[in-house]
Amino acid sequence: MFKTTAFATAAAILVSGAAFAESHVDPAIAGAIKARQSQMTLYAFNLGVLGGMAQDKIPYDAGTASAAAANLVALLSLDQSRYWPEGSDNASVDGTRALPAIWQDGAGVGEKAGALKEAVAAMDAAAGMDLDSLKAAMGPLGGACGDCHKAYRQSE
Ligand code: HEC
Repeated sequence: MFKTTAFATAAAILVSGAAFAESHVDPAIAGAIKARQSQMTLYAFNLGVLGGMAQDKIPYDAGTASAAAANLVALLSLDQSRYWPEGSDNASVDGTRALPAIWQDGAGVGEKAGALKEAVAAMDAAAGMDLDSLKAAMGPLGGACGDCHKAYRQSE
């Protein structure tokens, strides 16, 4: 009986906690943050395959490497403009590491996004060729991700 009551109380607190959180974060902002983090997660997943091969941790396979590179190309073709609404920086809301600088430096962000696009295109051309070509394309690609994070993502 006591256990049931304690459980019911805990459940009630959880439910009201969720309602509290929802009422304070604009669902449109929360959704955009989730969308861009999901995009980044998919970048990382596919980059991980290529990086694993580049570091000789995963055996090189031309088909798998090509598919991962093609996924990066496909991901980059998505329109990402609605992922970054005003007020979704880490100074305005919780749950994001996106620095306010993103919204103050459109040219810089565009440059970093362009560098990623170039590096992904180079990887797309190299990945299925052979392991040496993949390795050569890996540095610029990892660098393009890292440069943007250094400038616009809160370090952990
Ligand atoms: C144009 C800038 C930019 C580029 C290029 C970029 N990122 Fe990000 N990335 C960010 C920002 C900003 C965040 C923080 C997003 C947030 O928390 O709202 C982030 C977050 C992440 C996260 C954490 C996601 C999460 O769930 O919190 C991962 C993983 C990631 N990026 C991987 C990558 C990989 C891999 C690449 C390259 C293929 C890449 N990113 C390219 C800006 C960039």
